[in-house]
Amino acid sequence: MTAPAATRKKIKSLRDEIRHHNYLYHTLDDIEIPDAEYDRLMRELQGLETANPELVTPDSPTQRVGAEPSGALKTVKHRLPMLSLDNAFAEQELREFHTRVAEKLEFEDGAPNLLYSAEPKLDGAAVSLLYENGILIRAATRGDGTTGEDITHNVRTIKSVPLRLLGKGFPDTLEVRGEVFMPRAGFEAFNKTARETGEKTFVNPRNAAAGSLRQLDPKLTAARPLDMYVYSVGIVEGGELPGRHSEIISTLREWGLKTCPQSRVVKGVDGCLGFYREIEAKRDALAYDIDGVVYKVDSLAMQRELGFVSRAPRWAIAHKFPAQEELTQVEGVEFQVGRTGALTPVARLAPVFVGGVTVSNATLHNIDELHRKDVRIGDTVIVRRAGDVIPEVVSVVRNRRPKKAKRVQLPKLCPVCGSHVKREEGEAVARCTGGLYCKAQRSESLKHFVSRRALDIEGLGAKLIEQLVAEDRLADPSDLFQLSKDELSSRERMGDKSAENLVRAIEASKSTTLDRFLYALGIREVGEATASSLASYFGSLPAIKSASAADLTNVPDVGPIVADRVSNFFAEQHNLEVIERLQSLGVNWEDSEPMKLADDGRLSGKTFVITGTLPTMTRDEAKRLIQRDGGKVTGSVSSKTNFLVAGDKAGSKLEKAQELGVSVLDEDGLLKLMAEGESH
Ligand code: IVH
Repeated sequence: MTAPAATRKKIKSLRDEIRHHNYLYHTLDDIEIPDAEYDRLMRELQGLETANPELVTPDSPTQRVGAEPSGALKTVKHRLPMLSLDNAFAEQELREFHTRVAEKLEFEDGAPNLLYSAEPKLDGAAVSLLYENGILIRAATRGDGTTGEDITHNVRTIKSVPLRLLGKGFPDTLEVRGEVFMPRAGFEAFNKTARETGEKTFVNPRNAAAGSLRQLDPKLTAARPLDMYVYSVGIVEGGELPGRHSEIISTLREWGLKTCPQSRVVKGVDGCLGFYREIEAKRDALAYDIDGVVYKVDSLAMQRELGFVSRAPRWAIAHKFPAQEELTQVEGVEFQVGRTGALTPVARLAPVFVGGVTVSNATLHNIDELHRKDVRIGDTVIVRRAGDVIPEVVSVVRNRRPKKAKRVQLPKLCPVCGSHVKREEGEAVARCTGGLYCKAQRSESLKHFVSRRALDIEGLGAKLIEQLVAEDRLADPSDLFQLSKDELSSRERMGDKSAENLVRAIEASKSTTLDRFLYALGIREVGEATASSLASYFGSLPAIKSASAADLTNVPDVGPIVADRVSNFFAEQHNLEVIERLQSLGVNWEDSEPMKLADDGRLSGKTFVITGTLPTMTRDEAKRLIQRDGGKVTGSVSSKTNFLVAGDKAGSKLEKAQELGVSVLDEDGLLKLMAEGESH
């Protein structure tokens, strides 16, 4: 029986599409669709081919794993093929794997004590390292498993790959295999720089690793923060290795190769599942991306008995985590207005299950990001949700863009209050200029005011605040303290009891601390830590209110920008009025002693500016030393500056100091000045 034309057509279109993605992924180190979608296309094709075996052709993408090399690098034939792993997604699939293993090994009790090496499944690029007499002589990519590319010049730049093995006892020829990856922090930093310099960014750390390895110029690779964990061996000649996988890994570690610290031996399926849950819980805290865990039968004798099926070993399986990236459509883009008036573009999405929950909104961060990613309404996009992080739009699948996809522009007027939207020079965020006139800013600043780390008013939820603001019942935080029980209990969905509790919580919040109060005010750039530094440095609100920007920079960790924000805040009459009202309605705290300012210190009365890189201390350390001795540290040089402490690469501040005739000190000079003072 021949397959219907529709099936043939479907098979052809799946093959074409998969080939397109193979080319993007393997040759251009780029991606358009998430792995989960690629896997679905592949499974669909496999399903159709299994049902219609007469349609399988040798050039079908199912007939090989990976793709051929790009041609720019020398090719390398793997003497032992680099295999892939079968995947299990559900617990049941893992149990079936274990049952197959136990049966094939002729265990009669289901092998509950069979030992597996359990390892994170690193999401990077598989690499083979060849050592001859302990010297690294070649490194190659996996390629299609049979033929890879010579990347020796690049792998030599990875600091954790030993160019010469340590110790002794290694085989004359030893091929080690493992994963090269880019740790997340390095990936973020790399992309940040690439964005600033207008260079190509990478979609995820795995592509960054693969792309970096395939550079033609090793200098470029050397600048990328790559790392490598080894997880198996290939060719072993002229020497012997231990008889268990876990022992081989420990031996490789002794020879100076880096192995994954999370790996360990577990017992039976239950041990595997325990490991899976443990690593899944740690997933977001790990420094590198993983997409599941791998279990390998630990005994090499058993591995030999189990053997292989086509491209994958029967003795190992990858247990995958739920995908953190999925495809969906952008149905609209809205701009949310935050507490400080910042406009955040948010994509409204066709609901999609990703990272364990259904997501229907994803942040686009800011208007520059939106334009850089060129997200349009109607586009198919990759959304990513990792851990508790807010879901984000990663990229657009360009070849699925409909003709009528609509571009998005920054609105000229605030979508909430209609005030002008302004974007300051050099800032990525656009802001509504409406201030507290803008109900969005009012709601958000009230939500912040009552939040747990601020005044901590339990039972005053976001919904209720929004309603009260919409009804103009809350113009500023002081109105909270005038809400009555009767007024609250007459509201829909608010019983007597909860109204009473809420009033009690509001009352209780009046006794607070200066730290919390300052934080609650929602001054831009003043987070919890800064609020608490200000509170302990000045001890009281009047002292903070009357502090100049220069005084404020004397507070540890307060720089000129924060100082500016704080003094601007207290310079606004309406802010002072709100504070007064709050206090008159009973909001109170205890003042404390201001931090001891060394009035009689060696440097008292002297004003310093610090610039450039000092040889042994950071600028913050120098600042603290000066403050400890009663000196003042400010951000810019003026005629009032007594000393400029200048380190390496001091720029315009040094010029200005010289122009004004301000004394210039280096770090030594500063230390001498402080020591001199001591002897006086
Ligand atoms: S073992 C026959 N162990 O997963 C065993 N692979 O689908 C083959 N991978 O190409 C590999 N972490 O890039 C193994 N701990 C680990 C791994 C791991 C990541 C990757 C590797 C391989 C792919 C197999």
